[in-house]
Amino acid sequence: MSDQSSGQIANVLNETRRFPPSDAFRQNALISSFADYERLYHESVSDIEGFWQREAREHLHWFTPFDKTLEWDVPYAKWFLGGTTNVSYNCLDAHIHAGRGDRVAFFWEGEPGDRRVLTYRQVYDEVCKFANGLKKLGIRKGDRVSIYMPMVPELPIAMLACARIGAIHSVVFGGFSAEAISDRNNDAQASLVITADGGWRRGKDLKLKETVDEALKKSPTVKHCVVLNRTNNNAPMQCGRDHWWHELVANEATECAPEVMDSEDTLFILYTSGSTGKPKGIRHTTAGYNLYAKRTFQWVFDHKESDIFWCTADCGWITGHSYIVYGPMSAGATQVLYEGAPNWPAEDRFWEIIERYKVTILYTAPTAIRAFIKWGDEHVEKHDLSSLRLLGSVGEGINPEAWMWYYEKIGGGRCPIVDTWWQTETGGIMMSPLPGAVDCKPGSCTRPLPGIVPVALDDHHREVGEQQGGMLCIAKPWPGMLRGIWGDDARYVEQYWKRVPNHYLTGDNARKDEDGYYWIMGRIDDVINVSGHRLSTIEVESALVSHPAVAEAAAVGRPDEIKGQAIAVFVTLRNQEPNESLKDALKKHVRKEIGALAVPDDIRFTAVLPKTRSGKIMRRLLRDIAAGKEGTGDTSTLEDFSVLAKLRGDEES
Ligand code: PRX
Repeated sequence: MSDQSSGQIANVLNETRRFPPSDAFRQNALISSFADYERLYHESVSDIEGFWQREAREHLHWFTPFDKTLEWDVPYAKWFLGGTTNVSYNCLDAHIHAGRGDRVAFFWEGEPGDRRVLTYRQVYDEVCKFANGLKKLGIRKGDRVSIYMPMVPELPIAMLACARIGAIHSVVFGGFSAEAISDRNNDAQASLVITADGGWRRGKDLKLKETVDEALKKSPTVKHCVVLNRTNNNAPMQCGRDHWWHELVANEATECAPEVMDSEDTLFILYTSGSTGKPKGIRHTTAGYNLYAKRTFQWVFDHKESDIFWCTADCGWITGHSYIVYGPMSAGATQVLYEGAPNWPAEDRFWEIIERYKVTILYTAPTAIRAFIKWGDEHVEKHDLSSLRLLGSVGEGINPEAWMWYYEKIGGGRCPIVDTWWQTETGGIMMSPLPGAVDCKPGSCTRPLPGIVPVALDDHHREVGEQQGGMLCIAKPWPGMLRGIWGDDARYVEQYWKRVPNHYLTGDNARKDEDGYYWIMGRIDDVINVSGHRLSTIEVESALVSHPAVAEAAAVGRPDEIKGQAIAVFVTLRNQEPNESLKDALKKHVRKEIGALAVPDDIRFTAVLPKTRSGKIMRRLLRDIAAGKEGTGDTSTLEDFSVLAKLRGDEES
């Protein structure tokens, strides 16, 4: 374990504060006492199949009912076998049939201040029109469609249109580079890309279509590209390949029969970083994922018809998939959707939005909370946030100081905070307080949700004792779990199921306290978490080494006040003297290879990297150096001791 994570442990170990929900919150909560939570939890885990069978029957619409709840052939799970449904039906048609078509689905706000309100009926119409448009371009069930868009309503509409016709979407976050898009297009063998001419971010038009054009030069499987006109920037259109969204849908009907999908048909793939270089396409399927996203949304956010829910994530991440599109929309929630940056045109944009739409539930990330703290309380104090009743946090651990600020300044001391632990692979939230039932402790994701059996294990696969850290595993299958890695079954087995037999390995360390609360203690692998987003050190290193000047590179995370972790890299050069302009060139190179979020914050040139005698880079030492800590760790396996001194003295080179 790194010193960095033990630092976090020391910090949270002192944390003994407890925050029960207020009586007012509890009285209206769906699950309103700890005893009710415990009863539900025990009932769920004592008969996992029976529990999910009831849930699935009650909470999804089935075209054909399923006849078998679970087939568990480790590590391959199949849920709700024999059943057929359609996720877009559950998100749209179900509400219209229930007479709730006029409910607002989205209050959308663009960064420049433009606004749109869309009801479920209107979203339905747009989804059907676009689904028909996709069909016209030859897209059929099972085809892969990449989506690279800004946060406009057409992004969820595009996802739901794919779901409607059974096409498998792969959403690529709008900050990724052309290289990253073409890698994903090629891995998924995508036949179509949906994008926009641009999107607004801090007043600038990000020209997404230009990036896609670059990517398409290296994406031989892509035959068509649909372009939404968002910023009107005269994007070049290639005749025959490119189609304007508005022209594509102009004459399409507002009805499109939903494709009948088997429970285990793939709904989407979403690429995420692992501990090796190549991003992996996490594969989620139809019924299990849909049920899990819906129910976890309802449980964790204590969702009521009267709520206005705002998840500030981008649909390009799993949080946007599960808690903007599939969970909340299956539950018929009314949501706020915002396109741009939290500090545009000023640092109070989020608070202004909350006041305008009377948001009741806010779900955001610790990195944003730390930025708000830095920007100052005055931006918050300008606005009336009394509509808020519940707050959520996701993406990384929230440190107790940030938790307290969120609780007091944003929640006015009256809103529980759901610190939700989960992963792209888990499909939905796995651990979180149920806000009316489980007291919060700042920095702890508290308890598992119904049906989830976490366990922290030592290297001998024995459960660790109270307050001891261990590898966090999940002992039983759950409906939202990933079904595999697209096109790489060996990696699926290797990554998640090999180290501990019969258990899903999360890659996180965790400990359990005397109350049975879980505390996440950081990663066990070489994954870094920058602003709540996963990057593998090897991805950054591979990008650097692909630059002609670089011989070898090592990337590590170092603590950062706002981003959680920043990226520090140590680089050895081929026959070249280091200089400042090379640093800029390397940053640009990484931006081009992966995207802005992987650009290193610190670059240090070094003649050699510290290695073990077997040639492994000693990242622990590099982490200490990057964090400005004198290396206190064990250096007995270090090959060349002089390297360390050189590295420490090398700060400004
Ligand atoms: O290390 C954990 C951290 O983020 C990882 C999952 O990243 P990703 O798949 O990108 O999904 C992020 C959004 C669900 C986890 O393995 N993580 C996420 N949420 C928390 C967290 N660490 C501590 N506390 C959390 N609440």
